[in-house]
Amino acid sequence: MALVTPDMTIADVTGRWPDSARIFARYGLSCASCAISKSETIMQGATGHGGGKVNVDDLLRDLNVLADTGKLPANLPEASAVVGGAKGAPKGMAEQKGIKHVIAVMSGKGGVGKSLVAGLIAVGLKRRGFSVGVLDGDITGPSIPRMFGVREKPAARPGTQTLIPPSSRGGIPIMSMNLLLPNEEEAVIWRGPMISGAIRQFFSDVAWGEIDYLIVDLPPGTSDAPLTVMQALPVDGVVLVTTPQALATMIVTKAVRLVKQLGGDILGVVENMSYAVAPDGSRMEVFGPSQGLKLVIAANAPLLAHIPIDPEIARLADSGEIEQYLGAEAEQMVDAFLTVAPLRTPSVRAAH
Ligand SMILES: Nc1ncnc2c1ncn2[C@@H]1O[C@H](COP(=O)(O)OP(=O)(O)OP(=O)(O)O)[C@@H](O)[C@H]1O
Ligand SMILES: [Mg+2]
Repeated sequence: MALVTPDMTIADVTGRWPDSARIFARYGLSCASCAISKSETIMQGATGHGGGKVNVDDLLRDLNVLADTGKLPANLPEASAVVGGAKGAPKGMAEQKGIKHVIAVMSGKGGVGKSLVAGLIAVGLKRRGFSVGVLDGDITGPSIPRMFGVREKPAARPGTQTLIPPSSRGGIPIMSMNLLLPNEEEAVIWRGPMISGAIRQFFSDVAWGEIDYLIVDLPPGTSDAPLTVMQALPVDGVVLVTTPQALATMIVTKAVRLVKQLGGDILGVVENMSYAVAPDGSRMEVFGPSQGLKLVIAANAPLLAHIPIDPEIARLADSGEIEQYLGAEAEQMVDAFLTVAPLRTPSVRAAH
């Protein structure tokens, strides 16, 4: 008798046989479905979300091979056969959705202020009349909702798989794995195929509306995690964030190489935590002298800004009020971004 039956929920199956997430992903049913809808059965998932294209018999056969033998079946379908172009996202994907441009924010290493820069770019674009959304691509350590003070769970559009993203007070729609988890502290340990499936769903199954820019906060590092996210989305350009000391360690070079490997385009670089301002107004270069010029050479892209260490940034980011931040350097960063960005004037009337 088959261990896995069509009336079992996807979450049941992935709970009992964690590797089944890989099988679901290959059939175009990524594990985001389990986070979004714990009650969805395999049959519902295959006929609803899979757009009716999923071969349920094959899927069940493969799941049962895993359940019986503990091993993944040898001939799983190529993901692209089902979801349409898994290797690098099709460019038409964004246009169909009404998303004009996707900009990814990347850093070689963690903790350099990537999420903050992603947030400040989104806030600055919104202030300039652009319609903007933020996709938190950092599935395992998401900090975007916190920075924007968004806690609300995305609502599902009745009878569909579409999620309506909650908006910040300033009217920026936000989607993050954190918003789907039962509690904020829950750690998410996901493997590559599950991450790319979730990210793809954050893009295609979320009602972003008509937007000029979708800003994507990538996971830190130069390994599989940012690569997976970049490949899952039709990214138009990358903003690279670093700190003065990061340059010394080749991290920037690695990040640049990664973007190039993917055929991506680095629009500009931002040096964060460049300096701090002492009470007497003098500048302290906490992490050493600015490496701006070297950075520009390494990335072959313009330096958009030096952002200082500013306690006000940390305070507002921690209290969910990043939209309140006004700083000359952050403004300059957004203006500079717009000189290299694919869209320089708002094309979509911002909703708020
Ligand atoms: N220029 C700055 N001035 C003051 N605080 C800052 C600045 N940049 C970042 N921070 C603070 O430093 C911390 C790390 O920033 P952030 O979360 O943006 O980094 P990250 O690169 O996204 O980290 P991770 O790799 O964990 O995703 C946050 O608490 C943030 O508020
Ligand atoms: Mg971050």
